[in-house]
Amino acid sequence: MPLPKAELHLHIEGTLEPELAFALAARNGVELPYADTDALRTAYEFTDLQSFLDLYYGLMAVLRTEDDFADLADAYLARAAAQGVRHAEIFFDPQAHLARGVAMETVVAGLGRALDRSEAVHGVSTQLIMCFLRDESAASALETLETAKPYLAPQGPIVGVGLDSAEVGHPPAKFREVYEAAAALGLRRVAHAGEEGPPAYITEALDVLGAERIDHGLRCVEDPELVARLVRDRVPLTLCPLSNVRLRAVDVLAEHPLPAMLDAGLLCTVNSDDPAYFGGYAGDNFDAVRVALGLSPERLRELARNSFLAAFLEHDEDRRSRYLAEVEAYEFP
Ligand code: ADE
Ligand code: ZN
Repeated sequence: MPLPKAELHLHIEGTLEPELAFALAARNGVELPYADTDALRTAYEFTDLQSFLDLYYGLMAVLRTEDDFADLADAYLARAAAQGVRHAEIFFDPQAHLARGVAMETVVAGLGRALDRSEAVHGVSTQLIMCFLRDESAASALETLETAKPYLAPQGPIVGVGLDSAEVGHPPAKFREVYEAAAALGLRRVAHAGEEGPPAYITEALDVLGAERIDHGLRCVEDPELVARLVRDRVPLTLCPLSNVRLRAVDVLAEHPLPAMLDAGLLCTVNSDDPAYFGGYAGDNFDAVRVALGLSPERLRELARNSFLAAFLEHDEDRRSRYLAEVEAYEFP
């Protein structure tokens, strides 16, 4: 039995496995510029975030109907459940679909259908977070929030907003207004920062956007004062170790700063980011850091505990307590 955990940094579009991509391409009459799944996998040689994003946005061409989004999320939830994920807070990129002529209704209804039955079918509770593309304009983000209004909690599945895509050159402050609007609507706020961008972007995400968690946050280690602040304020970091290796944020997993970050008292969690592209789901990331970094069972338990502490479960503290009890009761093989 795998260690119970929450997944807090997962782009649903990044769970599109080559086999499903080709199946959806056939279903929708979309021509892919790859001969087969092997040829597509061969293209997964990334040199940085942008080289990944180019392929990631391109492959989204196969996602067209409500059923496509439902099938995508259902496949992810099945895989996540098999790796011990008990709760998933799932990102999606509405602008990447709206730009292709796929309506917000299609995306959210499809994802929502899979999420609605996830607990019964997979034993995984879920929430949805919509991310703004930081390399698009602030006006586009505001327009997207407006389009999403019918789908926001409590009547809809979207509980929060995030910020993703190409980081360098797109500092968080660009999105001050849309984050203020999101806060006024009662939405939770997270933001990618310090993946490729400098530690100052993490500070800005906290101070200007009111981010409650930092996605990645890896480069905080370059700024001891920032680390002290993140420790003091118990700001969760959603780290993605396999992603960091594939996108060359770290050279090799054995050099990942996760152990030092835990030693410093940071509230670190381990997540999968875009598992179809980076070589593994949540449990695979846990296994990889255990092996490469020699993490003890108690360190792994700490990471699992942190994932539930950092989850947006304030509306259901009983559930959080049950998940935390599962973590404490877990017996490592
Ligand atoms: N979109 C999907 N994965 C991402 C990542 N790792 N960083 C920024 N944007 C992303
Ligand atoms: Zn991400």
